[in-house]
Amino acid sequence: MSIKKPLIVAIANPKGGVGKSTTTANLAAVAARHGLKVLLFDLDPQASASDISGVNEDAITSFASAMFGEASVLPSSIAVETSCGYDIIPAGSDLITAEDMIGKLPMGEQRLSLLIDSDTALSKYDLILIDTVGARWRLLTACLMATDNVIVPLRPSRLSVKELPDLLELIRYLTPYRGKKGPISIRGLFFTEVDERTVATKININDVRATVGDDQLVMNTMIPKSTVIEQAALVSQPVVLYDAHCGVSRAYEELFVELFPELLREQKSA
Ligand SMILES: Nc1ncnc2c1ncn2[C@@H]1O[C@H](COP(=O)(O)OP(=O)(O)OP(=O)(O)O)[C@@H](O)[C@H]1O
Ligand SMILES: [Mg+2]
Repeated sequence: MSIKKPLIVAIANPKGGVGKSTTTANLAAVAARHGLKVLLFDLDPQASASDISGVNEDAITSFASAMFGEASVLPSSIAVETSCGYDIIPAGSDLITAEDMIGKLPMGEQRLSLLIDSDTALSKYDLILIDTVGARWRLLTACLMATDNVIVPLRPSRLSVKELPDLLELIRYLTPYRGKKGPISIRGLFFTEVDERTVATKININDVRATVGDDQLVMNTMIPKSTVIEQAALVSQPVVLYDAHCGVSRAYEELFVELFPELLREQKSA
């Protein structure tokens, strides 16, 4: 019998502050609410997704960086439960040293991919969501090498949209190095912090559709701009758990359904 593999999805955009960590934690919480077994893999030294998931600061030391050391550990052995319904591999500020370690290791950018592929205990998960660093670091490349899919949050601002072609180029560039894994599939791009009333927002959204050249890839769901995100972050909770009925929570629920219809079908038929 073949072992079921989890779907691995990186939330990626080297542009900082576009809502990657917020989205990762909220999609993980929505997926868990649908009964899926989810692992959030925090690979950003800022540890924002770990923080939103309520992982105690004391626990956020040498977790994810352990994988890039001499005696690298398997990811499943360092996963911990959260009170949000999903498991997490937390990041810590020491993860910044991984950047150096990856540079020194032979094929360092492949290390994460090899570890995940050899970790049979990860088969208990349906979905692994990787939060990535908001810069063009080796850590981001390592995540892109390891993932099956990417989802790309964008803010509807000119500067955010301007950097999109670079990310698409990086994704294409990595394909030959991924061997049997093949090209990274873009599952979807979507907008966060949207204030639909402004004309600039509409223009930027149209620009993205033109840059991507495939309307199917741009999700219909947009995450509205709202202060409730900050309120939830203050008490270290994904907003979908903090206030399940607010507009942002409903939007994250819709986004999950739009991004992952097959996971929900499998869940219903199981
Ligand atoms: N829909 C939203 N409405 C209002 N504020 C938001 C929204 N989404 C995210 N934010 C806020 O924007 C800031 C950046 O969000 P977040 O940390 O998720 O981005 P990021 O892409 O992970 O950043 P980085 O690149 O630094 O890792 C945070 O303060 C967050 O609370
Ligand atoms: Mg982040």
